[in-house]
Amino acid sequence: MTALPARREAAATARAEFDVAAVRAQFPILSTTVHGRPLVYLDSAASAQKPRAVIDALARLYERDYANIHRGVYELSQRASALHDAARRKVQRFLGANDWREIVFVRNATEGVNLVAQSFLAPRLGPGDEILVTEMEHHANIVPWQLVAARTGAKVVAAPIGDTGELDLEALAERIGPRTRMLGVVWVSNVLGTVNPVEEIVALARRRGVPVLIDAAQAVQHQPVDVRALDADFLVFSGHKVYGPSGVGVLWGRLEHLAAMPPWQGGGDMIERVAFEGTSFAEPPFRFEAGTPDIAGIHALGVALDWLEGLGLEAVAAHEAALLAAAEDALARIPGLRVLGAPKRRASLLSFTLDRVHAHDLGTLLDLEGIAVRTGHHCAMPLHARLGVSASARASFAVYTSAEEIDALARALRRIAESWR
Ligand code: ALA
Repeated sequence: MTALPARREAAATARAEFDVAAVRAQFPILSTTVHGRPLVYLDSAASAQKPRAVIDALARLYERDYANIHRGVYELSQRASALHDAARRKVQRFLGANDWREIVFVRNATEGVNLVAQSFLAPRLGPGDEILVTEMEHHANIVPWQLVAARTGAKVVAAPIGDTGELDLEALAERIGPRTRMLGVVWVSNVLGTVNPVEEIVALARRRGVPVLIDAAQAVQHQPVDVRALDADFLVFSGHKVYGPSGVGVLWGRLEHLAAMPPWQGGGDMIERVAFEGTSFAEPPFRFEAGTPDIAGIHALGVALDWLEGLGLEAVAAHEAALLAAAEDALARIPGLRVLGAPKRRASLLSFTLDRVHAHDLGTLLDLEGIAVRTGHHCAMPLHARLGVSASARASFAVYTSAEEIDALARALRRIAESWR
């Protein structure tokens, strides 16, 4: 997630230091074939593949350590509970959070935003109030706010982006007014790859007393994160994009906020005492975790974070910067191909259109060569409208992506561009 000249410089070093073959060997799916061709998986921004360590952790939990958590005095339940509590502390360490009670397990980043919208924001909203987001948000950071806005008479407004696909910070500052009750901002755009200066944005909002939620779903897998330094109010990410299982995600929130927020779903494990006359609720994070959670998934998420940290997030960032530089160079030489946006800081993904070929056709043609990319609006319809395209194709890179795979993508795109001329 570096600027362009630095990316090129980092490329040679990264190639020397990062043993991508050894990383790939840990992902069983990468040695499978599609349409008789070796799989070239370039859709990690939609969901990352899983290393053997995560797959084994899931199986091992079910084979040896599985019972419901926080409900049994027997040894097995105690063991499962200890693993669950350990996973929460791993997430705390991964995010640099002050306190394990700031880590709420949810199903995914989307559910984290919904929780904040309904529990934190809805009680503070009235008619005419505003929720500020940006034009480059994923639907997950738009629609949950629209739902609470519709109930309360508030409205969702968007700060603009410039033609390079970067936020206009001056315009964003101007959009923060006396009725702004919340700012929701994406750290890394899932379409443009733009890395937003979130520290600066949080500081700007904080000076105006506006709470900030950071959508970090496309960020935490690419670079180290420190929520204390970010100084935001809430941050969300999904387990499945960070090499963990799907169905589990994380909401980090400042403890003083979580402690003051009402529950948003009721049920078992989120209460202190229940009577028909009334119920009192558990402290955070349990207040927000009604019902039996994804016990195995949460455990495996902790294992995934350990695994990723074992590779070293700085090394991961350098490897991915090298891939991005190679992809930018290769795609720039394909006739009729247009990459969306040109941000100075970009994470390891590129969205593009190809003249005369609809994105979905492009996706199908690439698939026939074993190459998996995402096509469509990537859950960012307002951004595509702003960019003046209805759909695009997106190639996204991860720790296991190799330089050969970038070459394979470029070769296939060139063939398609030439044969559809
Ligand atoms: N948000 C995911 C993506 O961008 C699913 O593909």
